Amino acid sequence: MREKQFCPIAYRCGGCDYADLPYEEELYEKMYLAKRQLASFGPVAPIMGMKRPCRYRDKVQAVFGYDMKGNIISGLYKKGSHHLTAVKDCALEFEGAEKILSTIRKLMKSFNMKPYNEDTFEGDLRHVLLRKGHKSGEILCVLVFGNKYFKRKKEFVSDLVGKHPEITTVSYQVNGDETSMVLNESRIETLYGRGYIEDELCGLKFRISPASFYQINAVQTETLYDVAIKMARLTGRERVLDVYCGTGTIGLVASRKAKEVIGVELNKAAVKDAKINAERNNIDNAQFIEADCSVFMKEMAKRKEHFDVVFMDPPRSGSDERFLSSLIKLGPDTIVYVSCNPETQRRDLLYLEKFGPYRVYGSQPVDMFPRTEHVETVVLMSRVER
Ligand SMILES: C[S@@+](CC[C@H](N)C(=O)[O-])C[C@H]1O[C@@H](n2cnc3c(N)ncnc32)[C@H](O)[C@@H]1O
Repeated sequence: MREKQFCPIAYRCGGCDYADLPYEEELYEKMYLAKRQLASFGPVAPIMGMKRPCRYRDKVQAVFGYDMKGNIISGLYKKGSHHLTAVKDCALEFEGAEKILSTIRKLMKSFNMKPYNEDTFEGDLRHVLLRKGHKSGEILCVLVFGNKYFKRKKEFVSDLVGKHPEITTVSYQVNGDETSMVLNESRIETLYGRGYIEDELCGLKFRISPASFYQINAVQTETLYDVAIKMARLTGRERVLDVYCGTGTIGLVASRKAKEVIGVELNKAAVKDAKINAERNNIDNAQFIEADCSVFMKEMAKRKEHFDVVFMDPPRSGSDERFLSSLIKLGPDTIVYVSCNPETQRRDLLYLEKFGPYRVYGSQPVDMFPRTEHVETVVLMSRVER
């Protein structure tokens, strides 16, 4: 049965895939998607949904442009296109995000700041990224300019934070790259505040810098990490490796139940955050290393280092043969594979079962992205003697 649309711009903006389905039916669909990829390996537990599946996005990315009448708008590119749809108060974004974006649009007019045009390379503001600490309420605002010509940034920011004292830090970057990436990792400058925000997750404090990966749905992240850590059955004696570790979240939460944790991550800013996060939480049994995780695991295997548990949480594209063959060489007893794309996860699990001594013992889908088609899944693998 169709549900009265929960958002006035649903389907137009390209952000939602299930805007008018009752949430129960959406979960049913997602369960089907997860089972299609994972049921052949073993049991798939019922999906864990949200109590209130709206306003969960703690991170908002807005593109700036003009409407047909020449008014400045901000929003999203319609799915699969470069057509900008104005978004005014999306039902998934955190409360208050639209007020900030609306102020930015008004300030742009008074500062004669123009939206950046990716075809002509003219104009100023290209994207705005907002991130809110779910528990702390701190807000990070990153202004991404298409070029370096706008001179009155400091004044602009002073007006913005004057109107929105809830913004605790503002950063800026010039990104004229021909890419759809909102931020590139380098050259992010702080214009106001500390340059990062802090939040609390699973009872720990986390520092989040603009370019660091951090889950966008804090409520479901606590569920996700709880599932992953329970699957690992930690007793306090284990040596744990957290690969693709971001700001160290999974590893730091797990460190309370493990002997030692090593986290590995490619992104420099995220590794810095992870190290500070360990200190900030007085955790002395976790260390973080900036490296490619395939290279790191290969090196560990060469040195005959043993890990009892590996948590892996790769990007949507999943892992690759280089990573998976290093993982097999390293040979942990347990692998907990967290994924936001069950299709690439299935491919990787098939590899580990075929070329390694591993078997899947079960999967747990968690709905991290209500109203969208994306499903997050956690899979437990253990060694089988052959
Ligand atoms: C899906 S995020 C997971 C982050 C973290 N586990 C969390 O829950 O917040 C994937 C992370 O893998 C990192 N990454 C991607 N490729 C990598 C590689 N080859 N080696 C190490 N880290 C990598 C990305 O920078 C990103 O932080």
